[in-house]
Amino acid sequence: MNISTDTRIAIVGLGYVGLPLAVEFGKKYPVTGFDIKQGRIDELKAGRDSTREVEPAELAAASQLSFTADPEQLRSCNVFIVTVPTPVDNAQRPDLTPLIKASETVGKVMPKGAIVIYESTVYPGATEEVCVPILEKHSGLSYSTSLPFKGRAGEGMGQGQETEQNIFHCGYSPERINPGDKQHRLPTIKKVTSGSTPEIADFVDTLYRSIITAGTHKASSIRVAEAAKVIENTQRDLNIALMNELSLIFHRLGIDTLEVLEAAGSKWNFLPFRPGLVGGHCIGVDPYYLTHKAQEIGYHPEVILAGRRINDSMAGYVADEVVKLMTRRKMQVVDSRILILGLTFKEGWRNTASRWPTWAAVSRPPKPARPSRRSIAIPPMAIPGRAAAGSRSGWLRWRGPGESGRSLR
Ligand SMILES: NC(=O)c1ccc[n+]([C@@H]2O[C@H](COP(=O)([O-])OP(=O)(O)OC[C@H]3O[C@@H](n4cnc5c(N)ncnc54)[C@H](O)[C@@H]3O)[C@@H](O)[C@H]2O)c1
Repeated sequence: MNISTDTRIAIVGLGYVGLPLAVEFGKKYPVTGFDIKQGRIDELKAGRDSTREVEPAELAAASQLSFTADPEQLRSCNVFIVTVPTPVDNAQRPDLTPLIKASETVGKVMPKGAIVIYESTVYPGATEEVCVPILEKHSGLSYSTSLPFKGRAGEGMGQGQETEQNIFHCGYSPERINPGDKQHRLPTIKKVTSGSTPEIADFVDTLYRSIITAGTHKASSIRVAEAAKVIENTQRDLNIALMNELSLIFHRLGIDTLEVLEAAGSKWNFLPFRPGLVGGHCIGVDPYYLTHKAQEIGYHPEVILAGRRINDSMAGYVADEVVKLMTRRKMQVVDSRILILGLTFKEGWRNTASRWPTWAAVSRPPKPARPSRRSIAIPPMAIPGRAAAGSRSGWLRWRGPGESGRSLR
């Protein structure tokens, strides 16, 4: 098959993950970017990306990329890549609603022989246990895990035995981008690929290798690729949780955590993690996908959930420490004004729609203090120093993941 001449890609969900992917593929293949939000489509058609992940010049360089909010426009595509959110609900259970809805959309328009690749972070098994039945139901086609892939994706499969059997295929290729990071971009981050048969895995791998200059790692199955992604963030969450627990101990001991970590870090194999607040919709969320699946099969994960508990409690701890400090300094807590520098969950990040742990903790009922949101608009490097916090505000400086919480003292 000829990937470069026969492939017509649909990207379903044009957020932080979907848009950069659509742009890279859109430089080489006909790509239709689809999103349910008409406003998102309108801004992209106008050459603007409000997430600031893609510059206008990059958008313009994707000459074969078009945008639509009309699912009917996807009928001409033969490769569908799903990049919709996978959040948790209030009880920290996976909320698969966007994934289910996107699978319904794809199932209704995909042709025989289509390849549906999921990029959203899920638990091992989600693609084949949750998404595939929905694709089958809405397409009337059957999921192929054994038939060899001889033809082209989509209409190229329109000849011979495979078409008569009305099949489709799946792949999974998790995303590893780090939004806001201008150094590690989609093409320069090695990507894991997988497919429902060895031949589909080859197709998916070749497709991604055509845009990922860092290369790919072809996993042995979709479940292995799903599991690999979810443990990347689980490992990071747990390492941060250990540092947070250490900081809680050292704070009580009156020892500076950063100084301890610098001393321990002089050993060649000490891992350079730092304490910090875990926010956003990846590290603080993905482990729950894994623990959900573990519990579903009768295993109660202890270490992973303990790490989650510690990381989720850190915002409250910081808020409590601030209140203690204010009281010690005879500052009035009720109705005081607190300026939070670094309100978003990581440096250089402008999106406040993700979890705001400190914000939430400081403003929780019965609202001991009123945090000011004015700091959102201030780029981190533009803050001249503590004096900038203003004489009318108390201040809390929460340092980034690479720093310690020393300024709490
Ligand atoms: N943002 C990251 O840092 C990052 C990194 C790696 C992996 N991921 C994973 O990638 C997935 C997408 O994350 P994101 O950050 O791009 O999310 P996002 O919220 O930025 O964007 C998702 C987009 O999908 C659209 N959408 C929702 N439901 C839809 C549907 N049914 N059909 C079509 N479009 C729909 C939304 O309107 C939105 O524009 C998640 O599973 C996330 O965990 C995210």
